[in-house]
Amino acid sequence: MSKVQAIKTQNLTKNFGNILAVNKINLNIPFGKTYGLLGPNGAGKTTTVRILNAIISKTSGNASVGGYDIVTESQKVKMICGFLPESPGLYSKLTAKEFLEFIGELYYLQKDVISARINELIELFNLEGRENDLLESYSRGMKQKVCLCAALIQDPEILFLDEPTSNLDPASARMVKDLISQLAKKADKTIFICTHLLDTAEELCDIIGIIVDGQLKIEGTPKEIIEFVGAKDLEEAYLKITGASHIDDLLGWRQETPNNNEFGKFKKNKRKDKKSR
Ligand SMILES: Nc1ncnc2c1ncn2[C@@H]1O[C@H](COP(=O)(O)OP(=O)(O)OP(=O)(O)O)[C@@H](O)[C@H]1O
Ligand SMILES: [Mg+2]
Repeated sequence: MSKVQAIKTQNLTKNFGNILAVNKINLNIPFGKTYGLLGPNGAGKTTTVRILNAIISKTSGNASVGGYDIVTESQKVKMICGFLPESPGLYSKLTAKEFLEFIGELYYLQKDVISARINELIELFNLEGRENDLLESYSRGMKQKVCLCAALIQDPEILFLDEPTSNLDPASARMVKDLISQLAKKADKTIFICTHLLDTAEELCDIIGIIVDGQLKIEGTPKEIIEFVGAKDLEEAYLKITGASHIDDLLGWRQETPNNNEFGKFKKNKRKDKKSR
């Protein structure tokens, strides 16, 4: 019998009307690994994590998280997962402490456990002194921190983080990256990260998958991916795989524009240079 994987999908597919957001994705992520899903805007990353957390339904295919089927055992999936959504909804009329107490109760944690965890997390995220303020008074980065606290409050076995460092200042982003690394290495958690930050992915992830137009194009360690496409680094590999157009091609129309500005002249000169070579 094959060993249970932390996250397993078979031909996982999601349509939103005519939009094929996730197209037959197959994932096999072992327990204890940190997996990074990369891809351009609209590639299907958020849709994939929302399906895996039983927030939206799949169109076809199968998936299990922690060995539990995401459809027939969705409650069990939710109990073992922590999820930082891309655009979290916060109850603005609750204080951070009240919000985290509410999340802790959703996981059926004991009141004293909730209280101890909140104190630890508030300290870790440098929110001491603000925990009794209404969330509507929080800055974007502070809200992101509260959402990270909510994702961590029940000490989940499997953690899904959709853009974990967005809105955070450099020191807070560093702290979150160190925290992710410690959760993976010391606490042996399985972590699934969606990110656009290639250096973050390279630093934290054991395995990277690159998704384009809903399809998983490549999977492997950062080193394997770089070698496979013959790139000098992960950025070049990513650009090759995602087929990102060169800026010259993208802005080619500017050469045709009458009343060229300095930028247009520069591009024309560049062209002449090329011809005269
Ligand atoms: N609720 C929805 N209704 C209709 N279309 C949707 C919905 N959610 C996502 N989509 C579409 O599915 C596709 C994948 O979107 P998704 O949010 O998964 O991309 P993403 O890879 O997370 O992008 P980003 O990097 O911008 O966060 C896009 O074409 C998007 O417009
Ligand atoms: Mg997204």
